[in-house]
Amino acid sequence: MSAAPVTVAEFARAKVNLCLHVTGQRADGYHLLDSLVVFADLGDRITCAPADQLSLTITGPEAAGLAADQDNLVLRAARAFGRPEGAAITLEKSLPVASGIGGGSADAAAALVALSKLWHVGLPDAGAVLRLGADVPVCLAGHPARMRGVGELLSPLPHPLPAAHLVLVNPRVQVSTPSVFKGLARKDNPPLPPELPRLKSLTDLATFLTMQRNDLEAPAQAAEPVIAAVKTALGGQPGCHLARMSGSGATCFGLFPDAQSAAAAAHALRARHAGWWVEAAAMAA
Ligand code: C5P
Repeated sequence: MSAAPVTVAEFARAKVNLCLHVTGQRADGYHLLDSLVVFADLGDRITCAPADQLSLTITGPEAAGLAADQDNLVLRAARAFGRPEGAAITLEKSLPVASGIGGGSADAAAALVALSKLWHVGLPDAGAVLRLGADVPVCLAGHPARMRGVGELLSPLPHPLPAAHLVLVNPRVQVSTPSVFKGLARKDNPPLPPELPRLKSLTDLATFLTMQRNDLEAPAQAAEPVIAAVKTALGGQPGCHLARMSGSGATCFGLFPDAQSAAAAAHALRARHAGWWVEAAAMAA
């Protein structure tokens, strides 16, 4: 008797770069990074059901921003297994597309995990995973990490981070990641300190992060000045310990001490900026 086919669901959490230092450039043009990556308890959902053919349906509030074509990272993730079997994949899209919080990479990572469970096969090798996107390895790891290399070198944090809540704000502009990297004034910026200190409170974390940077902020802001306005609006909310851009933007995050202050800030920002995407979420441990 064979087991009944099962549907597998995986959550694709938004990734947030608490800091992102660009420390060099490889001969192939890819940039060397040194970044602290965490995840928000907020994201897309991938569901994979048994089927003869491979198919992708996109639903959810952000579905309009994305085509379900062969270039979609979810279908590219399915092909990374080699010759894929069939699966009816549904992507419930809640994160804005191309917004610096790893939506596409998180979807690809969640699809890899869901399909490996559905098909009872191991994950593709590390090279195939990285070729899907520089943020796919960290999204596959799914826990806070220091990310180096072009995204493939991951180390767990030496000490747990303090509890924190995030407010994510996207001003509904899309910035092109390659052009943001091209706009960097320098590519040899200093890395993070070799040893990450123990950060016991949100104040400790914010103080440490204030001494770090997102090197992509300046070129992203030059292309889309509204990013500076987002940071100012976030930073002015009661309880906001730090406001910074994530990834290559345009989404910015604010760090808050509790769910109440994050929810109040999100409420105030939505009321003032009706066109912006604003969400509050816990920082996942
Ligand atoms: O890997 P991913 O598709 O997310 O990268 C998008 C683009 O961002 C790359 O084509 C490259 O131009 C740039 N990039 C980079 N260095 C990295 C990651 C991305 O130059 N480490």
